[in-house]
Amino acid sequence: MVGVLFLISSCRPDKTELQPVSFVGFERPGHFPAPHYNFKNNPVTKDGFELGRKLFYDPILSASGSISCGSCHLPEAGFADPGKAKSEGIDGLLGKRNSPALANLAWFPSFMADGGINHIEVMPIAPITDSAEMGSSLAKTMLTLNASPTYRKLFKQAFDVDSISDQKLLFALAQFMSMMISSESKFDEHLQGKNVFNESEKRGYKIFQQHCVSCHSGALTTDFSFKNNGLDITSADLGRARITQDENDRGKFKVPSLRNVELSYPYMHDGRFKTLDAVIDHYTTSIQPTPNLAEELQEPIILTNNEKQDLVKFLTTFTDYNYITKPSLAKSKQNL
Ligand code: HEC
Ligand code: HEC
Repeated sequence: MVGVLFLISSCRPDKTELQPVSFVGFERPGHFPAPHYNFKNNPVTKDGFELGRKLFYDPILSASGSISCGSCHLPEAGFADPGKAKSEGIDGLLGKRNSPALANLAWFPSFMADGGINHIEVMPIAPITDSAEMGSSLAKTMLTLNASPTYRKLFKQAFDVDSISDQKLLFALAQFMSMMISSESKFDEHLQGKNVFNESEKRGYKIFQQHCVSCHSGALTTDFSFKNNGLDITSADLGRARITQDENDRGKFKVPSLRNVELSYPYMHDGRFKTLDAVIDHYTTSIQPTPNLAEELQEPIILTNNEKQDLVKFLTTFTDYNYITKPSLAKSKQNL
């Protein structure tokens, strides 16, 4: 079983921190495909993972010392930033896009709504150096980390290095991110052959398979393609065209994972929809006839109010309570 990182020894209730009795590194859930990330150069170790976890929640990575990865990626919201269309970064600046839920990142062939980042090991450079997120530079962050005796000790433990390099910082964060595995939702139980859906969820799943699964496919709930799902005639955000410089890619965004989508509102690259009901209304009544509209959405989707409710019910089966409350993925006592 994936996710059992720590066995809490009940005979030692006096300990303040969870005691890592046995550490299980990366394990592929049986109903998932092979991960995209090749762990060969960076196998997940207990020390590397714990270090990545501490870094993820440490504002030391930002220029102001006030913003951490966890400021915009909150566990209780499936690691999204609930209720915020755009997240607040350094100096109260607002970013350009909505903070997405994070899960199953070791399976991602590309990152960001436009797929502009193609490797989990370089992913953190974007938020660290974005002027509206953490507003720093890798050089500055490395100076700050190297000035910290605590971090020098932890990097020594994890990677046996005397001075901290940016590569090792990225390795540690990649270890933490690749362990963010959401695979214990009701949807997963269904995929594992258990009969867990109620009648409404079953009806919703049928609708999902008919109209949504062509893009939000498989256990990962995405095929990672770039599609225009008809939000605007002319998208203000270039989307995939920002990377390819091809006007035909304007308004195409990476098909997002729907894991924990119930908790990660608001929705879409710009957080324009506050509720799942609004998302379904978009797909059923507001698809814009943009020239780049995905083929899969050319035929109108017509649903009754009851069918819409069933579909929303089904979408909540992606909620994974074990994932969002997993102690090993939460802020550790080391951060306090
Ligand atoms: C100020 C808020 C903010 C901070 C701080 C932040 N992020 Fe993000 N994160 C975002 C936003 C917004 C996006 C979406 C950007 C886009 O699509 O262009 C994002 C995207 C991502 C993605 C890609 C997800 C996907 O679906 O492709 C990952 C992974 C990620 N962040 C990890 C991190 C890590 C690791 C850190 C810390 C080093 C971090 N983030 C710091 C707001 C933030
Ligand atoms: C043609 C491919 C395609 C189809 C079919 C499709 N989607 Fe999407 N979906 C996308 C893309 C692309 C986005 C991201 C758009 C953006 O970021 O602005 C998205 C975004 C979403 C989101 C928002 C996720 C988030 O975290 O912001 C939800 C929810 C969603 N889709 C549900 C559905 C449902 C339900 C259906 C079926 C009725 C469906 N989708 C059909 C491509 C598709």
